Amino acid sequence: MTTYKADEIREAVKQRYAAVAQQGSSCCTPADDACCSPAEVRFTSKDEAESIIAEADLGLSCGSPTAFGDINPGDTVLDLGSGAGVDAFRAAAVVGPEGHVIGVDFTPDMIELAAANAHQAGLDTVEFRPGEIENLPVVDGTVDVVLSNCVINLVPDKERAFAEIYRVLAPGGRFVISDIVTTGDLSQEVRADLEQWAECVSGAIDRDDYLGIIVDTGFTGVEVITSHTYEGTPTESITVRGFKR
Ligand SMILES: C[S@@+](CC[C@H](N)C(=O)[O-])C[C@H]1O[C@@H](n2cnc3c(N)ncnc32)[C@H](O)[C@@H]1O
Repeated sequence: MTTYKADEIREAVKQRYAAVAQQGSSCCTPADDACCSPAEVRFTSKDEAESIIAEADLGLSCGSPTAFGDINPGDTVLDLGSGAGVDAFRAAAVVGPEGHVIGVDFTPDMIELAAANAHQAGLDTVEFRPGEIENLPVVDGTVDVVLSNCVINLVPDKERAFAEIYRVLAPGGRFVISDIVTTGDLSQEVRADLEQWAECVSGAIDRDDYLGIIVDTGFTGVEVITSHTYEGTPTESITVRGFKR
């Protein structure tokens, strides 16, 4: 089995999402939904689906972390792997003018697209920062809610990602993350496929291992809120939350 270095993986992921940003859509067509989730997984209701800013939804999400974020007006919210801004904008609507939303993404084309979408929507409480989830450009203990939608599976060092989430959260803060995990074995061929890593498949890890990393990081109240199995595959999408004491 080919094993890739973390930098090779990051480069492949960046290239894929630069292309998606330039195209303005993902591979989400009825015929080719290998890296996308159906609407009932991505949204909790029809109203929610209709309320999003269309340009910000590139069909890349695999859950609805914002809907389960218990976000309050005035909160500071951080969205990891913010893409074109879909969850950041939904969070901005809740935090209101006293709140602040930060999106972080390492693909420059995504940052540009998200910033253009924010400008067009007149949302000045949202900012998009270029940066890596493994080295977040965010000060310790300053965030109330961390969100992320279908991103941590793409990160080679998941322990480091959750350690960074823990670092930036304020005491009492929480994360709500939707992501892909495995519930059985992926073939060696799939594991060795860099393209499928970038498509949110090969980088997914076992559900129990994923939850174990979160608990070992120090989070409490760790709970899977929703899950959806992808028929005929050993993968599922989960939305999970945890708290920093
Ligand atoms: C599957 S897309 C999801 C985008 C967005 N959350 C959504 O639901 O539309 C993954 C995003 O995460 C970003 N990303 C992946 N790995 C990252 C990392 N290690 N650091 C920062 N951004 C990352 C990609 O550039 C891409 O925009």
